[in-house]
Amino acid sequence: MRIGLIGTGRIGSFHAGVLAHHPGVDSLVVTDPDAGRASQVAARTGAVALASADEVLAAGVDAVVIASATSAHAELIGRAAGAGLPVFCEKPIALDLPGTLGALREVERAGGVLQLGFMRRFDAGYAAARAAVRGGALGRLHTVRAATSDPAPPPAAYLPLSGGLFRDCLVHDFDILRWVTGREVSEVYATGSDAGPAIFRAAGDVDTAAALLTLDDGTLATATATRCNGAGYDVRMELAGERDQIAVGLDDRTPLTSAEPQGPPAPAKPWPGFLERFAPAYEAELDAFLGVVRGERANPCDGREALHALRIAEACELSRAERRPVRLTEIAEA
Ligand SMILES: NC(=O)c1ccc[n+]([C@@H]2O[C@H](COP(=O)([O-])OP(=O)(O)OC[C@H]3O[C@@H](n4cnc5c(N)ncnc54)[C@H](O)[C@@H]3O)[C@@H](O)[C@H]2O)c1
Repeated sequence: MRIGLIGTGRIGSFHAGVLAHHPGVDSLVVTDPDAGRASQVAARTGAVALASADEVLAAGVDAVVIASATSAHAELIGRAAGAGLPVFCEKPIALDLPGTLGALREVERAGGVLQLGFMRRFDAGYAAARAAVRGGALGRLHTVRAATSDPAPPPAAYLPLSGGLFRDCLVHDFDILRWVTGREVSEVYATGSDAGPAIFRAAGDVDTAAALLTLDDGTLATATATRCNGAGYDVRMELAGERDQIAVGLDDRTPLTSAEPQGPPAPAKPWPGFLERFAPAYEAELDAFLGVVRGERANPCDGREALHALRIAEACELSRAERRPVRLTEIAEA
C-alpha cells in the first residue's frame, strides 16, 4: 500500500516511523508546511517529502494519515474523503462542534472511512479493564477515577491551536471512559486552574482541570488532567466495583511514589512521555487502520465515537465557564 502522511510534528514523525516499518506499507509520502521538518522525517524513514497536502492527495496514495495541528484536521479530512481516500486522523476532529459535524457530514456524504486516533483503545491495560468491567469481574461498577498528567507543558505555540485542556487532553479520558464502561456520560461538572505557567493564561487555557462525570447507570467518574507533573507522564484509570477494584497504568514505571515507610520503591524509570508509554498502542492503531483500508476489519473508532468524546469536552468547557453542572443533552449532536 502507498500511504500519505500530512503533518510531521511530534506525533506525525512517530507515525511516519511506524508506517515506514510496517510490512503492509510499500511506500510513504509525507508533507508539512514546515518543509525542513518533512524532509528530516523523510530522510529518517525513507519516505518521499512532498510540497503540500494537495500533492499528497494526488500522489496515488491508498489512504491518508493526518497528524497536522488540530486546526487543520477538519478541512484535510473533508478533502481526503472527497478524493475517495480512507482517512486516519489524530484526535480531535476539530476545535469545535460545527467543525466536527461538518467533517463527519463530508465523510458520510463520500461514503468514506474515518478512523480517529484514540490509541488508548489499543492499550493492553485498558483492554483488560474493559473485559473485567463487561465480564462482571468487578461486580457493579460504582466509581471510576481517570487521570492524565503530562510531565511538562507543550510548546507555547501549540496551546492556542490545541482547543484547550479538555478538548486536547482529557478527550482521551472521556473516550476511554465510554469504551471501557460501555456507558454514556449524562452530566458533567468541571473546573480548571491557570495558576501555573503564564503561557496557559496567555492562551486562555488552564494547566490543570478536574471533571465529575455521572454515567447513565449512576456510576460516578472523576477525570483530572495537568500539564505540570514533574514526576513524569502518568495516565491511569482506577475502576472500583462492589466485588473488586483494578487500576490501568499502575506498574513499576508509574511516576508515583508511596509516602508509606513500607511502601513499594519509587519508580526507577518513570514514563517520560506519551510516545514511550503508548508506543505499542500507536503501532496497533495504525496496524488496525491498514486492516480497515484492506477491508479486513471493522473501523475500531469512527468519527461518531470522536463526536461523543468531544461533546463531553464541550460540556466540561461550558460547565467551567458557567460554573454549573451541564447535562449532555445541552450539547448538540447533529
Ligand atoms: N493521540 C495522541 O496521543 C496524540 C499525541 C500528540 C498529539 N496528538 C494530536 O496530533 C496532532 C498534532 O500534534 P503534535 O503534538 O504532533 O503537534 P506539533 O505541533 O508537534 O505538529 C503539528 C504539525 O502540523 C503541521 N501543520 C500545521 N498546520 C498544518 C496544515 N494546515 N497542514 C499540514 N500540516 C500542518 C505543523 O507544521 C507541525 O509540524 C494534534 O491534533 C494533537 O491533538 C495526538
